[in-house]
Amino acid sequence: MITHKVGIVMNGVTGRMGTNQHLLRSIKAIIDQGGIRLGDAEVIMPDPILVGRSEAKLAALAARAGIARYTTDLAAALADARNQVYFDATLTGQRPVGVRQAIAAGKHIYCEKPTATTSAEAFALADEVEAAGLKNGVVQDKLWLPGLLKLKYLIDTGFFGKILSVRGEFGYWVFTGEHEALQRPSWNYRKEDDGGIIVDMLCHWQYVIQNLFGEIESLSCLGATHIPQRWNETGQSYTCTADDAAYATFQLKNGTICHFNSSWCVRVDRDDLLTLQVDGTQGSAVAGLRDCKAQPLAATPRAIWNPDIDSPIDYKSGWSRVPTNAVYDNAFKVQWELFLRHVVKGEPFRWSLREGAKGVQLAELGLRSWAERRWVDV
Ligand SMILES: NC(=O)c1ccc[n+]([C@@H]2O[C@H](COP(=O)([O-])OP(=O)(O)OC[C@H]3O[C@@H](n4cnc5c(N)ncnc54)[C@H](O)[C@@H]3O)[C@@H](O)[C@H]2O)c1
Repeated sequence: MITHKVGIVMNGVTGRMGTNQHLLRSIKAIIDQGGIRLGDAEVIMPDPILVGRSEAKLAALAARAGIARYTTDLAAALADARNQVYFDATLTGQRPVGVRQAIAAGKHIYCEKPTATTSAEAFALADEVEAAGLKNGVVQDKLWLPGLLKLKYLIDTGFFGKILSVRGEFGYWVFTGEHEALQRPSWNYRKEDDGGIIVDMLCHWQYVIQNLFGEIESLSCLGATHIPQRWNETGQSYTCTADDAAYATFQLKNGTICHFNSSWCVRVDRDDLLTLQVDGTQGSAVAGLRDCKAQPLAATPRAIWNPDIDSPIDYKSGWSRVPTNAVYDNAFKVQWELFLRHVVKGEPFRWSLREGAKGVQLAELGLRSWAERRWVDV
């Protein structure tokens, strides 16, 4: 058995995403399953070193995850030749600092989105990592959600005919923290700390739209700060300076129109926290995080407007579930496995820092559209 041990410097791993999605549900899960099997006699085994600023937090997390290596000394971790990959899930504004240090140390780069706070910086990072000849990737997890994979299957098998429009609804109620425990870090609601839902979510919508529906030509985006005051991790009240909702319309080069509502100030009356309704000439579908339901033209009921009587049609019953024909793993873990195969075996991996920069660019254009109250071209 050949074992490819890959040392991974995991920076920002004590944060919400770093701990839950990247360490526990991805890297630890890969270790627990015996690595990534490449055949009968070959396996990739991640060997993480947890990096952060608080020794106590790192020690507790390392013990919880059963990981031996941790340090507060990033430079030393990068200088260690055992470590081939640098992973960054720190705050967005910190990302370029860590990534540049890792590029200088010759490490392959994998990181959370957004890759930077400005598109100029995000494209500069892509240029630098490519010039150094290093492998690189950015988290685009939504592409591996079971619901979106089922939707992709419908697209690939021609279910929709011509796709006319896509309506994305994302969001849920995020408690203000006045009377309840926080669900999300308080920096998300402060512009000065790189918060805001446009910066956070338009990165995702960029790669979802591009990979499923086509290239974006132009967009119009209206942001809002619906809730002006929240309470932070220590119970102090603060003024919200960042957008907590965004209403964005995207025109694609192929004519499809996509409209995405993103909000941390809505209560959920839909099948999931993210739903995508796709309407085409031959059929429609609604995808959630795990499920997808579809209605072909031949099963489409004839709707007639008549508010004087109760609806004779039960609209919800006219949809069938796309079956779960495959086993779906955690979306972050699936992408980690693809990235590590890319690092070790050179298998293709197209979700690069350059692709990630396009998401940062779309968010920036969304903010510009809102500020200037106009459509902007991509
Ligand atoms: N892919 C996704 O769906 C998704 C979802 C949420 C957040 N994110 C992104 O992941 C990143 C982290 O978000 P989070 O919600 O985990 O935030 P978080 O606040 O929970 O974690 C941030 C981490 O960065 C560390 N950190 C803070 N300041 C630092 C500094 N100056 N130097 C070094 N480390 C520092 C913190 O200690 C912590 O470990 C953000 O860039 C965010 O946009 C991605």
